[in-house]
Amino acid sequence: MASFDVILRTRASLHPCGEPDEFVSTYDGVITCTDDVTGRSKNVGRVHALKVHASLAVDQGESLFDVCDCHSQELHLLHTLLYESKGYGFRDPIVEMFDAVEWNLLVLDYVVLAPKWRGLKIGLLAVRKMVDLLGSGCGLAVSLIAPLRHDSHALLRVPPSWIPETTGKQGRREAAVKLRRYYRRMGFVRLGRTPYYALPMTKRMPPAEKLLEPE
Ligand SMILES: CC(C)(COP(=O)(O)OP(=O)(O)OC[C@H]1O[C@@H](n2cnc3c(N)ncnc32)[C@H](O)[C@@H]1OP(=O)(O)O)[C@@H](O)C(=O)NCCC(=O)NCCS
Repeated sequence: MASFDVILRTRASLHPCGEPDEFVSTYDGVITCTDDVTGRSKNVGRVHALKVHASLAVDQGESLFDVCDCHSQELHLLHTLLYESKGYGFRDPIVEMFDAVEWNLLVLDYVVLAPKWRGLKIGLLAVRKMVDLLGSGCGLAVSLIAPLRHDSHALLRVPPSWIPETTGKQGRREAAVKLRRYYRRMGFVRLGRTPYYALPMTKRMPPAEKLLEPE
């Protein structure tokens, strides 16, 4: 028998007067598998997430636009899609659609598993655990939910064999459909006409036992 864990690491500067993107925390993680008999542990997956601390930014008078813009093109885009242009809360349609009254945002970047350990729903359980651990104060969790590109393995620091080669537009589309259907089981719904999927944080996610049941 084996046990699986997710180990998350983050970092924050202790210096006052940092850059605006200090209000974004990055979580880099590994999924480990421990042999219950030998106690030996190895890394079998990787996860990555960001949290935008909008409520800390407002307390400290930092513009949320600057926070997101300074961090990355992706957060700049998400700011435009989700937040009031000059405020700290989500735009009215987002608040109505997702009951997103809290201001922080969780961005689930990716999860990848070694091929040997796929098909056991460990990816889904890892995402669920990250939402549980990192989602406090968040009105929304969002993810692009798409197959990772094979050539991104070096950037993600995983062996090439961990990322399937999905060929052609049609192949990528089919993979995205499968992944989106899979993550809908957790409660993710499409964010309007954007490529993003969102998880309303006021709704209870299905318990882990339920996610493990066959569909
Ligand atoms: C995403 C992942 C962690 C999920 O692991 P899991 O919980 O064990 O779930 P599965 O591996 O059974 O994947 C669920 C479904 O998505 C499909 N899928 C997952 N990643 C896929 C990819 N990159 N290309 C094509 N299909 C993919 C699986 O084939 C499976 O489809 P099926 O139900 O028809 O068999 C794992 O599949 C993986 O590492 N994929 C490669 C990396 C990736 O593309 N990650 C997506 C980033 S959001």
